[in-house]
Amino acid sequence: MDVDVFTLFPHWFDWFRTQRHVANVLALGHTFKTVDYRATTPLKAGKVDDVPFGGGAGMVLRIDVVEAALRARYGEDPVSVRDRRRVIALTPGGRLLDETLAAELADEPALTLLCGRYEGFDERIVEHFCSDAVSIGRYVLAGGELAAMVVCDTVLRKLHGALGDEESAVEESFSAALEGAPEYPHYTRPAEWRGWSVPEVLLSGHHERIRQWRLERARQRGAGGGGPPLP
Ligand SMILES: C[S@@+](CC[C@H](N)C(=O)[O-])C[C@H]1O[C@@H](n2cnc3c(N)ncnc32)[C@H](O)[C@@H]1O
Repeated sequence: MDVDVFTLFPHWFDWFRTQRHVANVLALGHTFKTVDYRATTPLKAGKVDDVPFGGGAGMVLRIDVVEAALRARYGEDPVSVRDRRRVIALTPGGRLLDETLAAELADEPALTLLCGRYEGFDERIVEHFCSDAVSIGRYVLAGGELAAMVVCDTVLRKLHGALGDEESAVEESFSAALEGAPEYPHYTRPAEWRGWSVPEVLLSGHHERIRQWRLERARQRGAGGGGPPLP
């Protein structure tokens, strides 16, 4: 997979690149690049934004700035880039990121993520250059960088070779193996701590009973109840 993130803060992603699962997929030949909007802005003094038409607080990321960055990166009219790779605007009101969307994106050969700042994008950027608008939750961050990292984290960990043990991604929250429910609780040593003990079934060595108990706990969580541990 070839991932490009357009941002005003490319250095934010230096740390992200060093995370184990990200480093693993980069070592396998996948790419993760950042593009600085300011590097190609046609405006003076590195300017990238402007006041909103109609008035109001804040500044809006300009379409000519984003177009210049996309053109410089892909060497073509940005209108056609989305025909061959998903171009995603990160925006609070977009399609909510979930496992379905993450799996969909993980199947793509190439992704472009556009980080907004300030009041957000001139809407024509989303309309004419993007294939998707994605939100990581119904709250507002200061910028799209953390949202891009969240999207990339969940997408890249799905690539073959990202995780030390691929099995850990087969049966986890929202997976088909757990019928789309949140994962069951885990416990480890010590089996007893301050009188808080591990559910007996997990110490039984009885694989089928353990499987059933875990599935039941996942279903219970999916039904909205964390609930007390099942006997
Ligand atoms: C301060 S926000 C803009 C908020 C915008 N004025 C609004 O009310 O929807 C600046 C940028 O942060 C990013 N951002 C903030 N919250 C986000 C979220 N929940 N999901 C994805 N991106 C988000 C977007 O790229 C956005 O353009």
